Amino acid sequence: MTSDPQYLHNPDADASEVMWRSVEGEFPNGSDPLSGGAPRYWVPIPSAELREASSVADMGIWYAIGEAWSQIAIRVSKVDKPRILDIGCGSGKMARFFAMIPGATYLGIDIFKPAIEWSQAAFKPLPNFAFTHFDIHSPLYNGSGKLDVTTARVPAPTASFDLIICGSLFTHLLEPAFKHYLGEVARCLSNQGRAVVSTHNEPQKGKRFSGKETRIDISDAYMLKLAQSHGLRLVEKVGTVFSQEVFVFERMKPHRPRWWRVLRKHP
Ligand SMILES: C[S@@+](CC[C@H](N)C(=O)[O-])C[C@H]1O[C@@H](n2cnc3c(N)ncnc32)[C@H](O)[C@@H]1O
Repeated sequence: MTSDPQYLHNPDADASEVMWRSVEGEFPNGSDPLSGGAPRYWVPIPSAELREASSVADMGIWYAIGEAWSQIAIRVSKVDKPRILDIGCGSGKMARFFAMIPGATYLGIDIFKPAIEWSQAAFKPLPNFAFTHFDIHSPLYNGSGKLDVTTARVPAPTASFDLIICGSLFTHLLEPAFKHYLGEVARCLSNQGRAVVSTHNEPQKGKRFSGKETRIDISDAYMLKLAQSHGLRLVEKVGTVFSQEVFVFERMKPHRPRWWRVLRKHP
């Protein structure tokens, strides 16, 4: 954010013709007279420390990445009112844009407790938005965590999400955790669901996977192979977005109801 005095003393800031200033009072979601029935947007901005902890402190870049990734997700969604799962959600950098989709529901999951606690408070006025702390052990983000990143089930129901976004999550997962989380994405996706996943794709020479929790790199070919082995088909490789490769996946096979599986075993 600039400290330019001209910015701080914006002459429009107190003008009575600035419409939102003339609207007084609180409005329940969906009743804001200026929003045409869409939910009113009132999510505060996290502190520079919180922005830095899971992304970048610079406000402009923080906003731009959130906007870019959320717009990609919205574009590829096959559903108008998506049920969204954001794994590694940080302090809601993408959630604040999803909050503008009328009828969307959202669950953000992260192992970094301060970001989750902040988001729970910040998004409280939006009843369709929830945030859950996942107590995975990570030397980088959650040193006192109790759960094992290679086995713990992501706290989200099976087949229940039309849009799953993992923005800069797989860029921090070692190979066993990386594979486990691909399986969890496939488990949580609905039959019409799409998953947007970002990676770094410059592994060390001669390797297809390399790095530490601070930065993981995987070749595109190995990424696609792993995704396929976890039942995910590539829908689109979006390209490089803010230095990360963005992939869109969907399930190769639909989830089947229990009765269908029983019937198949005992026709
Ligand atoms: C680079 S940040 C990206 C945050 C967010 N997606 C954004 O774009 O602002 C990576 C996030 O993943 C979270 N994370 C790391 N390992 C995780 C895991 N095993 N399960 C869930 N979240 C994890 C971190 O706490 C951190 O908030």
